[in-house]
Amino acid sequence: MSYISKPYILFGGDFNPEQWDRTTLEKDLMLLKNAGVNTLTLPVFAWAKMEPEEGRYEFEWLDEILDRIEAYDMKYFLATPTCAQPAWLSKKYPEVLPVDIAGRKRTHGMRVFFCYNSPKYRERAAAVATAMADRYKFRKGLSGWHVANEYGTYCYCENCQKKFRQWLVERYGTINSLNEHWHTTFWGRQVYSFEEVMLPTELNDDYRFNPAVSLDYMRFVTDSTIECYENEAKILKKARPDLPVFTNISGYIKKLDQFKMVPHMDVAGWDNYPWPTDDPGFPAMKHDIMRAANGGRSYYVMEQSPNQQNWQPYNKIKRPGEVRRIAYQGLAHGSDSSMFFQMHQSVAGQEKFHGAIIGRNGDGNTRIYREIMDLGEELARLEDRFVGGRTPAEVGILFDWDNWWALELTSGPTKDMDYLQEVFRYYKPFYDMNVPVDMVKYQDDLSKYKVLIAPMLYMMKDHIAEKIDRFVQDGGVLMATYMTGYADENDRCVFGAYPGPLRKALGLWVEETDALRPEETNTVCIGDRKLGTCGFLCDLVNLETAKAEAVYGEDFYADHPVITSNKYGRGRAWYIASRLEDKVLKQLIKGLLKSRKVEPLFESKGQVEITMRESKKGKTYFLINHGTETASVDLGAGYYGNLLNHHTMQGEIFIAAGDVLVLMPVHN
Ligand code: GLA
Ligand code: ZN
Repeated sequence: MSYISKPYILFGGDFNPEQWDRTTLEKDLMLLKNAGVNTLTLPVFAWAKMEPEEGRYEFEWLDEILDRIEAYDMKYFLATPTCAQPAWLSKKYPEVLPVDIAGRKRTHGMRVFFCYNSPKYRERAAAVATAMADRYKFRKGLSGWHVANEYGTYCYCENCQKKFRQWLVERYGTINSLNEHWHTTFWGRQVYSFEEVMLPTELNDDYRFNPAVSLDYMRFVTDSTIECYENEAKILKKARPDLPVFTNISGYIKKLDQFKMVPHMDVAGWDNYPWPTDDPGFPAMKHDIMRAANGGRSYYVMEQSPNQQNWQPYNKIKRPGEVRRIAYQGLAHGSDSSMFFQMHQSVAGQEKFHGAIIGRNGDGNTRIYREIMDLGEELARLEDRFVGGRTPAEVGILFDWDNWWALELTSGPTKDMDYLQEVFRYYKPFYDMNVPVDMVKYQDDLSKYKVLIAPMLYMMKDHIAEKIDRFVQDGGVLMATYMTGYADENDRCVFGAYPGPLRKALGLWVEETDALRPEETNTVCIGDRKLGTCGFLCDLVNLETAKAEAVYGEDFYADHPVITSNKYGRGRAWYIASRLEDKVLKQLIKGLLKSRKVEPLFESKGQVEITMRESKKGKTYFLINHGTETASVDLGAGYYGNLLNHHTMQGEIFIAAGDVLVLMPVHN
């Protein structure tokens, strides 16, 4: 659903007028308008300015700036300023300050530094949200409400302790049930009443030793944060039911379960800060995760940096054309916006070296300003061509926060457990081949996919095993890996032999798992032919109905299967017993795709990313050359119009290093 009567691509970002005088503000607005900015987010950090003492609001400065923004015919998301409580609030009500994992009561000073369960915090946050809603709900420039900023604090205060116990009562009902689900007989950890349950902190070290407790605590933090968000969101929604309410999700997405959180928002908005060292496919996957969080619908990119960051160890400036590629990548994966942090580089403070559209020189006479202006001009030309468009996919990759947390909380079998990076290994071959992928939640319908990849599907819950079993029986192709089917939702290994409930579909059971040091590898062989190497973890599997497609070449388990496949019902289930070298994995995935006739959008040569969005206006293809060499793409027999310059193209085309093409099929 689009909230805007005539949809367009949102372009703009974080504007912090509280930092600037009138003359600067006026000049900034003029420059932003000139750069094609149509949407601003404000005033994210202005609680201290808006409410200098409890209950006394000063809104006149904001009224004036909103007038000026509207005079330039720009729109805005009004942000509740609740991520940075004023000093008086922390002083008057110390309960709003968080306690950290070491048990230290923190003092005032940081942003996003409050206890999300504090009744006083919630009361004051609701009050400021109400005051803003009352005052601004009918302003003509208002496009929606942005709640706080990048939630993600973990608090261990007494109040959180109390609430955690209540949360456990709701979840388990009786203390016996809790003991059973947490398997507290191990190490004699039984509790006799909920009052004895402690938050997993450094004071008791349960955050390192008992994954069941930590896992529930992390779930509790997500649930508490949702409550905290809704505390404000419901006020804003009530004021203007027709406008979207959401928050911006930190690009470091691990802390809060976004598959649980986003359904409470009208739209997912996230902050995309790729590292210069990232494979370009990595942010692509995060975009796809956000699209999944938003139920496959289009979402918003709320922040990107127009130039370098300040918080990385080495903050590289963005190369010419890099901002444009990052912006298009978001649009290519389903975003309806390209927003930036920030509009004007601050003069001091923690982020004074963070890039901005308007640099410290203040007059727009910079390379970055000109690049943003060119981008703004292009995005305006694209109008609503793909806004609201979907990105259909025949391949799904299962992804889950509980699974992520449980794998990384677990002690053993290797310290190198990095779920997100591991999932990316399986995402990358599809990305490289221009085959669209959906990141898939356990609750999603699997039947629409031809191929399903389940990297390290450690945790079985929400009937996922039955769903996968059915998916294969009905003709789907499944690829599962080491670390599959171990735990229930409390991280108890109750399935006997692994891969647990997927044993039948995969036709094998895993007897042992070897952990390799980073410098160690084994080899993957078919007969005498060595396909490549493998490492990380090596399962020793016993075949039941599956057959070995490749075997290990080394160690005492040489000749044991490393890749297997099992014909099951009308489908086939593949098992990868060890992390395969990229080229071996890619070859295997190619075969899987062929078996189900899944085609790439286009064949290409070079480091070009290709995606497609489909909207009421038809199909739009995005071709982004992330490489330093010209790339070629075979468009086949059809004709395509380049929406950026109206040239018509067909057959083999070339894309200059770093360039972007946006194409629509031309029917003649
Ligand atoms: C985050 C925050 C912004 C800003 C940027 C800087 O995403 O939401 O306020 O600090 O990082 O990269
Ligand atoms: Zn707390």
